[in-house]
Amino acid sequence: MELLTTVSQLEASLARARQEGLSVGLVPTMGALHKGHASLVERCVRENDVTVVSVFVNPTQFNDKKDLQSYPRDLDADCRLLQSHGATYVFAPSVEEMYPEPDTRQFSYPPVDTVMEGAFRPGHFNGVCQIVSKLFYAVKPDRAYFGEKDFQQIAVIRQMVQALGIPVRLCPCPIVRESDGLALSSRNALLSESERKLAVNISRILFFSQAYSANHTVRQTLAFVEDSLNALEGLEVQYFQIVDGRSLQPVADWQQTDDIVGCITVFCGSRPVRLIDNIRYR
Ligand code: PAF
Repeated sequence: MELLTTVSQLEASLARARQEGLSVGLVPTMGALHKGHASLVERCVRENDVTVVSVFVNPTQFNDKKDLQSYPRDLDADCRLLQSHGATYVFAPSVEEMYPEPDTRQFSYPPVDTVMEGAFRPGHFNGVCQIVSKLFYAVKPDRAYFGEKDFQQIAVIRQMVQALGIPVRLCPCPIVRESDGLALSSRNALLSESERKLAVNISRILFFSQAYSANHTVRQTLAFVEDSLNALEGLEVQYFQIVDGRSLQPVADWQQTDDIVGCITVFCGSRPVRLIDNIRYR
């Protein structure tokens, strides 16, 4: 495995691979890697000759400076994990390398980028599109792998790829969970022991709501999830929406479409740590 830090190193290494006719897969990450990322890398290694994993905490997608500062970083540990899972290249550039000058491009894909995370984190998806498009242009991957925990992110990137005509196949990968159900996230590292115990209620109540939804309306299911979580001291739901899995617009009843997902963001603890998760209803 090789660690690369500049776009020109990356392009030179991949040009050699392309000359040999090798396929290239990309796993974009912000580091602080866990078993969820490992599952993306494993799949990428299985499906491609060359696996590039980018590790870059992208400042333009953080609308909250404190969140950016506290984002966990450990490149040595990330490299050990990536080496053990068979990555070919780790691309870990500096902020100056990726943004030699401010990126003034504006990406806008309503309605998928204006709801949920888009509404609560203004500019977030614009920053995601800025960095992901730069990575796609530099790596020119045949396939790119994203975790379904960031369900809306995949929908927005799908729109961007279509709009810009980028020839990459997007490969969404299922959420990986701890044995008790908590969705794996780099932010889990920020939870204290008691917050970690509290956080498990998010997936517990989401799973329970799947059964609940069988004989309750969408509106009742929304209220059930929100009220159950908000009743627990230390948890506060920022939003919970039950949406069409492609348009991400709220659905009014279960018959509306056969692709229905519940997306949630919850603040956990006193800091607080912002956790997201989602569950498929149909
Ligand atoms: O999902 C993430 O970790 C980030 O949003 C991504 C796709 C690596 C872009 O910075």
